[in-house]
Amino acid sequence: MALLGIDVGTGGSRAILIDEQGKVLASATENHEPFASPKTGWAEQAPEDWWRASQIAIRSVLKQGALDPDTVTGIGLSGQMHGAVLLDASGSVVRPAIIWCDQRTQTQCQWLTDTIGTARLIELTSNPALTGFTLPKLLWVREHEPNEWTQVNRVLLPKDYVRLRLTGAYATDVADASGTLLFDVANRRWSPEILDATDLSLDHLPSVFEGPDVTGGITADAASATGLPVKTPVVAGGGDQAAGAVGMGIVQPGAVSATIGTSGVVFAATDRPALDPEGRVHTFCHAVPNRWHVMGVTQAAGLSLRWFHNEFGTVSDDDRDPYEQLCDEATTIGAGADDLLWAPYLMGERTPHLDPNARAALVGLTVSHTRAHIVRAILEGVAFSLRDSFTIFEEMKVPVQEIRLGGGGARSTLWQQIQADVYGQQVLTLTAEEGAAYGAALLAGVGTGVWSSVDEACNQAVTVASRVDPDVTTAERMTDHYIRYRSLYPALKKVAYT
Ligand code: XUL
Repeated sequence: MALLGIDVGTGGSRAILIDEQGKVLASATENHEPFASPKTGWAEQAPEDWWRASQIAIRSVLKQGALDPDTVTGIGLSGQMHGAVLLDASGSVVRPAIIWCDQRTQTQCQWLTDTIGTARLIELTSNPALTGFTLPKLLWVREHEPNEWTQVNRVLLPKDYVRLRLTGAYATDVADASGTLLFDVANRRWSPEILDATDLSLDHLPSVFEGPDVTGGITADAASATGLPVKTPVVAGGGDQAAGAVGMGIVQPGAVSATIGTSGVVFAATDRPALDPEGRVHTFCHAVPNRWHVMGVTQAAGLSLRWFHNEFGTVSDDDRDPYEQLCDEATTIGAGADDLLWAPYLMGERTPHLDPNARAALVGLTVSHTRAHIVRAILEGVAFSLRDSFTIFEEMKVPVQEIRLGGGGARSTLWQQIQADVYGQQVLTLTAEEGAAYGAALLAGVGTGVWSSVDEACNQAVTVASRVDPDVTTAERMTDHYIRYRSLYPALKKVAYT
């Protein structure tokens, strides 16, 4: 038997096939068209392109795995969160989807905050109104494109459009629904109060399921489009962060991940909807039944290093991965980068500042600082910004017993050590880190009886590769640096922009 996980990301759709031990049999990614940005801060994609890419990725893994397709016994979906896919009564796309990183909705967020109030919004949905979330996007379309809005019959999240094409069902999962601002996260259902306050109808919204629940089966049309057997069950799955956490075994309270991709995410599983009264971290349902999660997001984590590389390149021009070369360069510099600090706010910031206008800065340069110091300061600055999420978790009494590293930040031994020293805690790396598609495949296994629970699936499939301890003296020094780092943002707010 085999389980299929699909992650409808921003850059591409990824499919992965695993066996009942969780071993990866095949994986494939098909790129999407880059997102369109018709105006500054806008981000749109064509849902049909996700479906095109998903079909290719699915066909590709079935071929690579050289499997009889009938051995696929369950399918799970994951994808980029927060997008607004607008469909008419026949299920056709009304306008391009407005995706998670689109920032056009400041006015609608202000209206929601003024009309409902931040405290009440947090009480009803566990989160404040943020520009990336789905509801403000719906309000924007209603206000600015009334003709298109009258055609809208259903609203879906990105991966659920692919589900519609695979199964004909209008459905979503509790984790992805949590990022819409239309969801009562504490009670795991759409919020009648928010629908009422915004004059939207429940009929617009898909049915909601827990991550491992079966939402439908492959239709005859989808079977001929993908090569998958008719009626193969498709489970709800999860938004990419929750499904990715399942794939890293972050399912029990106490388990926390720190993932450095383009953005950086600190994600903690909880057994209650833990709230930050200031809304600096997101509180969402987990893809695990009866569990929640909190997560803090740094907008420009890996992006800080990518920016440095794009602008200043590497010193040598060997064939190795440029990020590996940059990290090697930084190992020549001691912890603390001779007091150089990097505030990584290249794309505004979510946690802890919730400030789309925040600006980045390199602070404390002297003539003796070198490129290598700057790279080291960037690696440390990103870790400091993730430590901000740990600081908030501490205030919220969210336990952090074990930290698992993911993304590019887990691959560099230097960045692993920096993270252990900055967090002041042991960090773990995993043997295989396959992202959200892997978590979606595990959820499919739970929903189709391969494993009896998500915990059991993770225990069997996710294994620790290494443990990195903090160096006690360095960790103390890094705490002093972190205190200095914390004073950067308020100072920058005064001088870098108005
Ligand atoms: C989560 C978030 C991203 C998107 C895109 O809050 O904004 O993870 O889901 O991947």
